[in-house]
Amino acid sequence: MSAPSAAAAGGDGQAYGLCWPGKAAARAAAAVPPRAALRLRPGGPAPVFPGGHTILVGDNLEALKLLLPDCRGAVRLCYIDPPYNGGTDHLYPDRFRARRTSGSTGRHGPWLDLLLPRLLLARELLREDGVLFASIGDEELAHLRLLGEEVFGERNFVGCVARVTKRTSNKGIHFAPSKDYLLAFARDKRRLPPFHEVVGPDYADRFRGSDPRGRFATVALYQQALDPRPNQRYWIRCPDGSFCIPPGETLPDPVEDGVPVAPRSPRDRVWRWSHASYRQRRELLVFKATKTSPLRTPDGGRSAWNVYTKYYLDDRLARGLRPRDFLDGLTNDQGTAELKALGLDDRFPFAKPTGLVRRLLHWIADPDALVLGVFAGSGTTGHAVLAQNAADGGRRRFLLVQSPEPTGADDFPTIAELTIERVRRAAAQFAGPSDLAVCDVE
Ligand SMILES: C[S@@+](CC[C@H](N)C(=O)[O-])C[C@H]1O[C@@H](n2cnc3c(N)ncnc32)[C@H](O)[C@@H]1O
Repeated sequence: MSAPSAAAAGGDGQAYGLCWPGKAAARAAAAVPPRAALRLRPGGPAPVFPGGHTILVGDNLEALKLLLPDCRGAVRLCYIDPPYNGGTDHLYPDRFRARRTSGSTGRHGPWLDLLLPRLLLARELLREDGVLFASIGDEELAHLRLLGEEVFGERNFVGCVARVTKRTSNKGIHFAPSKDYLLAFARDKRRLPPFHEVVGPDYADRFRGSDPRGRFATVALYQQALDPRPNQRYWIRCPDGSFCIPPGETLPDPVEDGVPVAPRSPRDRVWRWSHASYRQRRELLVFKATKTSPLRTPDGGRSAWNVYTKYYLDDRLARGLRPRDFLDGLTNDQGTAELKALGLDDRFPFAKPTGLVRRLLHWIADPDALVLGVFAGSGTTGHAVLAQNAADGGRRRFLLVQSPEPTGADDFPTIAELTIERVRRAAAQFAGPSDLAVCDVE
């Protein structure tokens, strides 16, 4: 297993990097051959790796090792949603403490012991253009970022997205926590295609103008916040023959269309475009008559015009929209409601909304993606894959791993049984898949 190392000792003997007692053992755990085997549950279809929908019931460290021979380099998207180490156990342990056997101290070491070998193995399962997304809270954000950079290499860090998790909250002493994060790491960022944001049905609404080239929107050519630049201050001739320029202390002479004048004072404002762009792209200008123009005339008065530039809907769509690194509208209460809608109310705390995982699927824009969910919980990742396939006709497949954590409930005695049932109920809604394979990792 090869992975770039972040820790190196300096001349003074100090090392830079993420260190904790037990780290070497945690790294070595990834290389130990699997102790378990996959055992197919009677009566169900056999797994088709890497082609079929499969749920693996067991410790994900063993499961990832068992997937390696068939699925190495096959996963396009890996979503991990580990315990956040928030300090309060839910249905599953979420309060990590030093374990005498590992030698780790504090609350972060044991959590890192869990994550390091699993990240190393998940990386091996990713395709060259694959990406891993990890949900995480404030408690372990810093550690997971450093750990991820160590496993994937700093250059393969793709981004950190903040997600609003709840609309209202008044808990907490100084802040009322209401967000978590998604960290993204690429197997090889140079091979990871740009992400594509979902284009909502109302996106086109803002393109109100129309000309023979298509629908367009406009944006002002003068923006107050622009810093003065030498080639971006010049006069523009308006439709009535008058001239206008962004506000400033010096009004250049002579008054000629598109001839650059260096700003002389920091208060001499500028256009968004250089004079060269202005000359080449004049056909994109739109002049609007207004009484409140910020622009000036040669005698220092207020211009009767403001100047805008067009941008076209088709160009934007062809280029694709980049997702912002901030997610709103995908709160945890949606995850809770989705479980309720499947008749599984109060069975799993803080399930992620399927919309979150579907957003990731949109970003990678691959209808044939093999999707790996390493800490499956209530099975949100499987549900999201099925929903997205139903919505766009995709052929994505999922591999989910969930340990058989006891729940104390009679109908679903382990979390893994809940995972399986949730995915089955979700599949029934979309009339598929009959090919769900379930294997125990024993
Ligand atoms: C934060 S929850 C995941 C929630 C999930 N994303 C959802 O929407 O329902 C973390 C899950 O990982 C499981 N888990 C923790 N350690 C594990 C391990 N070593 N192997 C497999 N599953 C594990 C826990 O039982 C829990 O269900």
